[in-house]
Amino acid sequence: MKIVVIGGTGLIGSKLVKKLGEQGHEAIAAAPNTGVNTITGEGLAQVLKGASVVVDVSNSPDWEESAVLKFFEKSTRNLLTYEAATGIRHHVALSVVGTQQLSESGYFRAKIVQENLIKASSIPYSIVHATQFFEFLKGLADISMVGDKVHLPPVLFQPMAADDVASALARVAIGQPVNGVVEIGGPEQFRVDDLVRRRLASIKDPREVIADPNARYDGAKVSEKTLVPGNNARLGETRFETWLTQSAVVRVATNEKESRKKAS
Ligand SMILES: NC(=O)c1ccc[n+]([C@@H]2O[C@H](COP(=O)([O-])OP(=O)(O)OC[C@H]3O[C@@H](n4cnc5c(N)ncnc54)[C@H](OP(=O)(O)O)[C@@H]3O)[C@@H](O)[C@H]2O)c1
Repeated sequence: MKIVVIGGTGLIGSKLVKKLGEQGHEAIAAAPNTGVNTITGEGLAQVLKGASVVVDVSNSPDWEESAVLKFFEKSTRNLLTYEAATGIRHHVALSVVGTQQLSESGYFRAKIVQENLIKASSIPYSIVHATQFFEFLKGLADISMVGDKVHLPPVLFQPMAADDVASALARVAIGQPVNGVVEIGGPEQFRVDDLVRRRLASIKDPREVIADPNARYDGAKVSEKTLVPGNNARLGETRFETWLTQSAVVRVATNEKESRKKAS
């Protein structure tokens, strides 16, 4: 089956393209640096030719409120228009658990617009709501700064490894459209502040993390369960400590490679 992965060069997209390829599918990574741009339309008609499924795991390069809204609106409209013209049978998009409750955040308002466009289109679809990626924990600290400290609400949190996100997406992409939302999450629950503190400590980031009940999540008020999936969620296998160990090994290997490159 030919499957086009929009954002196929990104964190999730590159893992997804690899997994689909290993399963015998023709998986194409579509992104500006492979000649496909969902904003300008460049390369879209060509890449969709002969494809059955499109998986959209793209992200806006700019998270400023109006830029991110423009990105998801324009990109999704273009994609759906080209998909309808080429007869795509299944549109899969990656979004976030709790999106509908996070509309105080500019980023999540843009994701809501993306989801609504997909639901209103004529193309059968599956929207995958994932919890936060372990790989995003440092980024979460970066967007939660008050002065020189990280302020986070101590609410429940069930993040997952990007690799497990890609595996779940691959399963959805080769399955039948659900015309609804599939939730996926990690195997363990934590408190947001606690896990971000542990992640920063693991990379020797000295920033202090404050458990602040009034702190917002990317600008949105959250309650105890906003960020955790429901009981029917499909759960990934990778536990946080396992992921930490694996990512430390990768970091050491990458540093050694860099040092060898500099020395030669
Ligand atoms: N972060 C989280 O914890 C989390 C949780 C749940 C869901 N999500 C969702 O997961 C999705 C993917 O996130 P990610 O971290 O894998 O993203 P990422 O690593 O930033 O990758 C984004 C991809 O989008 C591509 N892209 C950007 N502009 C494009 C355009 N005009 N046309 C086509 N492709 C374009 C990029 O291509 P270039 O590299 O060429 O620019 C890149 O391949 C997002 O939609 C996000 O909402 C994230």
